[in-house]
Amino acid sequence: MEIKTLFVTKLYRAAVEGIDNASLLKSCRAIASGDKAGQRWSRENNYAGYTSYASLNDLPKRDPNFAALKSALDKHAMAFARELHLDLSGRRLGLDSMWVNVLEPGGVHTSHIHPQSVLSGTYYVDVPPGASALKLEDPRHASMMSAPQRTADAPESERTFIYVQPEAGEALMWESFIRHEVPMNTAKKARISVSFNYS
Ligand SMILES: [Fe+2]
Repeated sequence: MEIKTLFVTKLYRAAVEGIDNASLLKSCRAIASGDKAGQRWSRENNYAGYTSYASLNDLPKRDPNFAALKSALDKHAMAFARELHLDLSGRRLGLDSMWVNVLEPGGVHTSHIHPQSVLSGTYYVDVPPGASALKLEDPRHASMMSAPQRTADAPESERTFIYVQPEAGEALMWESFIRHEVPMNTAKKARISVSFNYS
């Protein structure tokens, strides 16, 4: 008998070197307190806290901390692309968006994908005790029809939902079609992160 493992889904996780995280945290706070359009968007869209997702698309130009993060992430994105065997025809993946998330206690970010991108991910700036994990969903889930649930002792690679508890200073990256969400932030403080898309 032979069992092959096919159609593998990979999650990239790495510490991001060379980032002054304390200074980046100040930059995130400064963006959040200065961006009135983003504050309004967050309020109108019931985002518990602040996101620059809909209001700013030039963070690396605004602040050298975001520029440093971008250049570090560029290398990680290319490393992941190699690991995924993506044929980029000699070209490089480019950052096409980067945004700050300040998720206050009690806040959630409901399940979604990132259409029109190749890789998506998040760099974690501040993850206080009790802060939300990242929940990822098996991308075949919608095709599973009447497939039974997986057993409680199924190995991680066989499960339908995966919870990853990030640490400050690291990045997670996945292919953009993978549905993910941020469950309720049960920390006493905001969970602060910078998310991004590569295309
Ligand atoms: Fe996302």
